[in-house]
Amino acid sequence: MRYFLTPLALASSAAVMAQAKMFHWPNRQMEMLDTVFFEQTAFQTPVSKCVVRDNSTVAAQWVRMAFHDIATHNIDDGTGGMDSSVFFELDRGENAGLARAFPDFLGFGSRLISLADLIAAGAIVASLECNGPVFPYRAGRVDATGQGGGGAPKPFLNLTDLQESFRRQGFNNAEMIGLTACGHAFGGVTKKDFPDVMQDERQFQFFNNRTTLFDNGIVTQYLEGTTFNPLVVGVNATTNSDIRVFNSDQNATVKGLADPAAFTKTCTDLFTRMLNVVPAGVTLTDVIEPWDYKVGEARISVANNTDKLSMSTTLRLLNPKDNPRRQVKLVWVDTHGRCSQWSGCSALASGSTPITGSTFFQKGFGKTAIQYNFNIKDIDPSTSIGKFWFEIDERDGSRPTEVKNDDGKGYNIAQDDVLFDVTRSTLFTNADGTNFTSQIVIAVKDNLAGKAPINVETVDAYTAPLKYDVHEAKLDTRFKKTAGYTFFSLTPPTFRNAAFDVYYGQVVPQNLKVQHGQVAEALSKVQSLS
Ligand code: HEM
Ligand SMILES: *[C@@H]1O[C@H](CO)[C@@H](O)[C@H](O)[C@H]1NC(C)=O
Ligand SMILES: *[C@@H]1O[C@H](CO)[C@@H](O)[C@H](O)[C@H]1NC(C)=O
Ligand SMILES: *[C@@H]1O[C@H](CO)[C@@H](O)[C@H](O)[C@H]1NC(C)=O
Ligand SMILES: *[C@@H]1O[C@H](CO)[C@@H](O)[C@H](O)[C@H]1NC(C)=O
Ligand SMILES: *[C@@H]1O[C@H](CO)[C@@H](O)[C@H](O)[C@H]1NC(C)=O
Ligand SMILES: *[C@@H]1O[C@H](CO)[C@@H](O)[C@H](O)[C@H]1NC(C)=O
Ligand SMILES: *[C@@H]1O[C@H](CO)[C@@H](O)[C@H](O)[C@H]1NC(C)=O
Repeated sequence: MRYFLTPLALASSAAVMAQAKMFHWPNRQMEMLDTVFFEQTAFQTPVSKCVVRDNSTVAAQWVRMAFHDIATHNIDDGTGGMDSSVFFELDRGENAGLARAFPDFLGFGSRLISLADLIAAGAIVASLECNGPVFPYRAGRVDATGQGGGGAPKPFLNLTDLQESFRRQGFNNAEMIGLTACGHAFGGVTKKDFPDVMQDERQFQFFNNRTTLFDNGIVTQYLEGTTFNPLVVGVNATTNSDIRVFNSDQNATVKGLADPAAFTKTCTDLFTRMLNVVPAGVTLTDVIEPWDYKVGEARISVANNTDKLSMSTTLRLLNPKDNPRRQVKLVWVDTHGRCSQWSGCSALASGSTPITGSTFFQKGFGKTAIQYNFNIKDIDPSTSIGKFWFEIDERDGSRPTEVKNDDGKGYNIAQDDVLFDVTRSTLFTNADGTNFTSQIVIAVKDNLAGKAPINVETVDAYTAPLKYDVHEAKLDTRFKKTAGYTFFSLTPPTFRNAAFDVYYGQVVPQNLKVQHGQVAEALSKVQSLS
């Protein structure tokens, strides 16, 4: 993470530069993770407000999913960890009941957001929505394609085997106690899943039945002897694993956790570590925190009826003061670094959208934000657009602020040879938005058209592992050549492909032209879909 901010007249003031936190644009992965987890609410809707489901809470199911996914880790050989292998292990005895939460994770994954990254994010939102601590989020987990070894401990294991299970996962005895107490701050035991543990008429029992929200009642009720935790006071001593775990150091660790602040700190530290347990060789991203300036994808399209290009992008301001007079301007230069347009090379934002209070951005980070939207028209295709930056003028007598990427050089357009043409593409949905398909239109410079196949890699995000397919976009003469571009199109044969990558030629990294195009960027049309 580097830092850069330049007010126009203070271009090299180190004091000012240190104020801003920015990421190096473009970074489509960081940008999308931030969008899906922090700005949008769709992924976290099921867990919202620590809601009850199946007698427990969705949050508890998501926290348990995370633990059971990392529990395959083997510190001795570096295998296993948070890799979504739990989705292939739902039939295992220790995972009984987790299948009920599996569908929550479908529909959000892509080349940029692995299922394992979703499981980790899920545990973080789960804690937040139950008033628990917020754990820092890193991404970059890699999905397994089959089962892992090891697995979460079963309640009838003796202490030696429980300790060995946690040692294999990378946790010592005190950490085993802390992690189990923190995990069991959520949810409880379901008779259907563990009939040996729940031998009376109850269908379900919370570990902490004072509140479904995060607190250390799991520990204090245990120490006071008032607990209903079925893994402490179950009729069958063999399955009372929590008492074996908590008592393994004569209650020394749990006594420390009777202090609420110590409990919260321990849970924060251990959950943070747990979520980042990954197989050897996997490198996680930096912690994703709100950037001072977030710049969205720059999408160049061929204008509808003129021989010009247009470009759309966004800029998000962090904690902006309430100022209706503020003007936010995008400034750009052509590929020669000049402005050759008679009308000038800048445009004010076409509109703005606040990031609302129900987002993680506000609830988890306590930040407010406004996203400004830009749409530049009439770009001459022969000189195109080389780079852009922003000027923010509060119009209150202070100097305008110039925002020019973390290196101060502006936001460089990588290429305009192969484009996801959002103005010609169409998204078709059924009336309730549950099914969708799309016509993806790709604009290719005339001199490149037909010389290599245009391959579109789609993802079906409703299955584990995520299913990728490559289809060739075909010449589509319904769209007549415009501005030096020829058009190719593709309607993916399967429904529900939300994101795709476009390659010029074979599907190898150096041929990637459009990363994570989203069908939702296209013009949307409601149509009946069978
Ligand atoms: C000594 C090790 C552990 C054992 C033997 C154990 C065993 C169990 C059992 C039998 C259940 C009941 C599940 C059901 O009925 O569906 C349960 C629930 C749960 N466990 Fe553990 N657990 C252990 C450690 C952990 C850890 C380390 C975490 C997380 C950090 C965790 C998180 C949870 C959660 C959140 C639930 C509630 C699930 C729900 O209500 O749906 N457990 N555990
Ligand atoms: C939840 O409790 C009800 C009533 O006790 C029971 O009928 C139902 O099967 C339980 N659900 C699960 C998933 O155990
Ligand atoms: C724990 O259980 C295992 C079998 O699962 C057994 O081999 C071992 O001897 C037991 N250890 C103790 C200390 O009881
Ligand atoms: C805790 O659970 C027990 C057993 O199900 C029940 O009798 C008791 O009323 C519960 N207490 C609270 C405060 O929910
Ligand atoms: C505990 O339950 C297990 C599994 O149902 C059973 O094999 C064992 O005999 C029970 N032990 C006691 C002490 O009831
Ligand atoms: C630990 O606490 C539990 C629950 O209060 C109690 O039953 C047990 O005897 C304690 N262990 C020791 C060594 O004091
Ligand atoms: C492009 O032009 C066609 C035909 O004039 C029109 O139906 C369509 O809405 C236009 N699309 C955009 C994005 O302006
Ligand atoms: C969505 O499309 C799939 C695949 O064609 C179909 O099986 C399913 O019934 C459709 N669902 C709805 C709600 O239209």
